Amino acid sequence: MHKRILVTGGAGFAGSRLCLALRKHSPDTEVTAFDNLRRRGSEFNLAALRAAGVRFVHGDIRLRSDLEAAAINPDLLIECSAEPSAQAGYSGSPDFLMATNVDGALNCLEIARATKCDVLFLSTSRVYPYARLNELPFIETDTRYRFAGTSPGLTSEGISEDFPLDGVRSLYGASKLAAELILEEYAAAYGFRFIIDRFGVITGPGQMAKADQGVIALWVAAHRFGRPLRYIGFEGNGKQVRDFLHIDDFCGLVLDQIAAFGEYAGKRYNAGGGLLQSLSLVETTDLCRRIVGREIPIGSETQNRIADVRIYITDNSRISRVRGWRPKMDAAQTISDIDRWLVNSGKDLESIIFGA
Ligand SMILES: NC(=O)c1ccc[n+]([C@@H]2O[C@H](COP(=O)([O-])OP(=O)(O)OC[C@H]3O[C@@H](n4cnc5c(N)ncnc54)[C@H](O)[C@@H]3O)[C@@H](O)[C@H]2O)c1
Repeated sequence: MHKRILVTGGAGFAGSRLCLALRKHSPDTEVTAFDNLRRRGSEFNLAALRAAGVRFVHGDIRLRSDLEAAAINPDLLIECSAEPSAQAGYSGSPDFLMATNVDGALNCLEIARATKCDVLFLSTSRVYPYARLNELPFIETDTRYRFAGTSPGLTSEGISEDFPLDGVRSLYGASKLAAELILEEYAAAYGFRFIIDRFGVITGPGQMAKADQGVIALWVAAHRFGRPLRYIGFEGNGKQVRDFLHIDDFCGLVLDQIAAFGEYAGKRYNAGGGLLQSLSLVETTDLCRRIVGREIPIGSETQNRIADVRIYITDNSRISRVRGWRPKMDAAQTISDIDRWLVNSGKDLESIIFGA
């Protein structure tokens, strides 16, 4: 049983929902959310964290002194802080991305070295090279692209942990893979336990989408607030596909991993919605029109952006084999939940997501 849990990035989308879930399921556990509030909208989560008895520390993981000043002696550290956009660094300097996702992660690992606490690291499917993903054979249907056949690391379920790692993967993906490798070395050298989860798209109520991150929440918000959208890349037809994991399924998985840390420890896992919980952009548009009840203009840009991926579907076999975890929330439920949250939270969210 963990008694003191530190969640870095604890005011962000995944981190804040996890802090609330931890307090709900283990009210005796001390939970500290550490965050520099860099992500627009994270400040919106502070009231709920405080109300749930989560201690909030305003600090930056790039500064070891901030982490030390917080005087947290955790027995579990969950690393949820990051610049999480696969487009980060391409239209300017990658300095913040690398300093947070690599140096900041290293500062977190220094806490683990000193305390021997368990570490759960939120990594990403973006560690898999995008050119290799885009070279996989595919077919085109009326509404989506689909993988055609299997190959090393591509099973009938989707992308497994055996997918080859050679090739570029985006600056973001590289920063997360670098942090994974350092974590594994630290754990072996200094004797603490770890779990690495490589998530695909996580979404749901509470996600402060932005143009380059949080695509499903962005799509729902654009429909709710009447903002235009664009299909970008892959012929501009909106047939690119992602699986998505509802934030409640994400929390359910992480709570199970914490409860049975030893059973999961020492491995990397792909985790996502899987084939059943996957959508193309066109299919997302269709569902948004039906659930939100509004049609908005959707433009088209044929040119890919760097690091764009045509299809990503998670093979959850390895993680499901540990204790039977499977995602439950489907697309209609997920989009309805996001829309209800947008309606209930009002105008503040419109300006957070789309700017003033
Ligand atoms: N959301 C997804 O679809 C997704 C998918 C795969 C992996 N992940 C990973 O999950 C984690 C959480 O992502 P999220 O969607 O909650 O993102 P988020 O942007 O909502 O949350 C990240 C939080 O970290 C904070 N932060 C950023 N830089 C910081 C710094 N230097 N010091 C302290 N705090 C800092 C931000 O203010 C924000 O509150 C990230 O590690 C991300 O790489 C997310």
